[in-house]
Amino acid sequence: MQVNEAVRARRAIKWYDPEHKMPEATFEALMEHAILSPTAFNIQNWRFVRVTDPKQRQAIRAVAWDQAQVTEASELLVLCFDNRAWSHAPERYWVHAPQEVQDMLVPAINDYYGGKPQVVRGSSICPRTMTLPL
Ligand SMILES: Cc1cc2nc3c(=O)[nH]c(=O)nc-3n(C[C@H](O)[C@H](O)[C@H](O)COP(=O)(O)O)c2cc1C
Repeated sequence: MQVNEAVRARRAIKWYDPEHKMPEATFEALMEHAILSPTAFNIQNWRFVRVTDPKQRQAIRAVAWDQAQVTEASELLVLCFDNRAWSHAPERYWVHAPQEVQDMLVPAINDYYGGKPQVVRGSSICPRTMTLPL
């Protein structure tokens, strides 16, 4: 599928076949794509919580306006981000980069985020609705 076709064909699906189970290999392939999403400074500070316990899914549904897709979709992922990741030893992100790059980026990430909670929030990963006909 071409990118322009994919963009036009994408839809937020509200109703799922609750009997359908996505093959594990498909789930893994989707996750391999999801983690290619860009992040500021490439710090990849996302956390994908895969909710598999039916009771937990029911509890999440209850606080999600009782939307059926929360329990009926084959998979439920809660997408979180660590808004303090940038301050936890940021030098770890660039250990394989040339020294001059490290010397530039480590202070830069402090300048960028330090004392600026609105920048931290603004640089969070974007919520994206990814629905494929699987
Ligand atoms: C941030 C965000 C939150 C959304 N929340 C819900 C939601 O709680 N329930 C739902 O059924 N759809 C939700 N949607 C999907 C939108 O309703 C849907 O994308 C919009 O109506 C356009 O339809 P389309 O994505 O099929 O083109 C959400 C979309 C976004 C971007």
